[in-house]
Amino acid sequence: MLLGAGFYAFPLPLGAWGRVGHQTIAYIAQDHLTPAAQKAVREILGPDQDLASVSIWADAIVRMRPETAPWHFFNLNVRQSQGEYDIADVCRNHDCVVDQIEKDYGVLAQRFSPLREKREALKFLVHFVGDVHQPLHCADDNDRGGNEKWFRYHGPSGRSWHATWVNLHGFWDNLLEPKAKENSRRFAYWLEKKISSEDKKTWAQGKPSDWAYESFSIARDDIYNELPDGPLLEKNRWGQDLPEDYYSGKMRGIVDRQLEKAGIRLAYLLNNLFPQ
Ligand code: ADE
Ligand code: ZN
Ligand code: ZN
Repeated sequence: MLLGAGFYAFPLPLGAWGRVGHQTIAYIAQDHLTPAAQKAVREILGPDQDLASVSIWADAIVRMRPETAPWHFFNLNVRQSQGEYDIADVCRNHDCVVDQIEKDYGVLAQRFSPLREKREALKFLVHFVGDVHQPLHCADDNDRGGNEKWFRYHGPSGRSWHATWVNLHGFWDNLLEPKAKENSRRFAYWLEKKISSEDKKTWAQGKPSDWAYESFSIARDDIYNELPDGPLLEKNRWGQDLPEDYYSGKMRGIVDRQLEKAGIRLAYLLNNLFPQ
């Protein structure tokens, strides 16, 4: 079973929230930075990098730094009632995305942190604010956030002859990639046009644990609610494929909103960190 799972582990391009997702979030944030925050970011990252170019660095280093792997998610069980959550248990030793955002924020807020540490903290922060908005990075169903729930999927056009096997988590990480056609800069502009000033006001507040809880609620109420419990390693046990319009029908709006929120909230954190 485990071997099987490993073999089928990467039917889609790897990457948490995918490259396009993380870069799109970074561009939206960049477009909402105050001049002071823009300047501080430039000083920390240097002339050759920007928020978008560093946004998937945290995924690239996981193999070299395995202790960072749990920093990308926060597992609340979607089948438990709220009163049963033990948040401290979820985030032991600060090994979760919520506490890591707080930690990186703290390093950046310290005036005297060495530049090298600030640079690393900023690279992590950009990435983790993205991850905390991927609903399946804040939820679990004894399936490692959907990594162990396998489905057949016929592709976004619905025209392909051969269904591929996808796991729910990887599928969500890469959900928008076929649509975005890899141009995150243009995709960010397109999303920004839909963000109202009211949205900005509502989103640019709260703390990482609130954002994680919001993601969790989406995972529970809009993603897991229509799927069977627990791991689905045995192919076809559910007896149903993921609908061909899974993304284009129901989920697209959710994905777009989460990307927009993540961008606005990343800007909110950075603007607070580097006041005028
Ligand atoms: N591994 C275990 N749970 C996970 C989750 N919710 N997201 C990403 N990776 C995980
Ligand atoms: Zn990640
Ligand atoms: Zn992921």
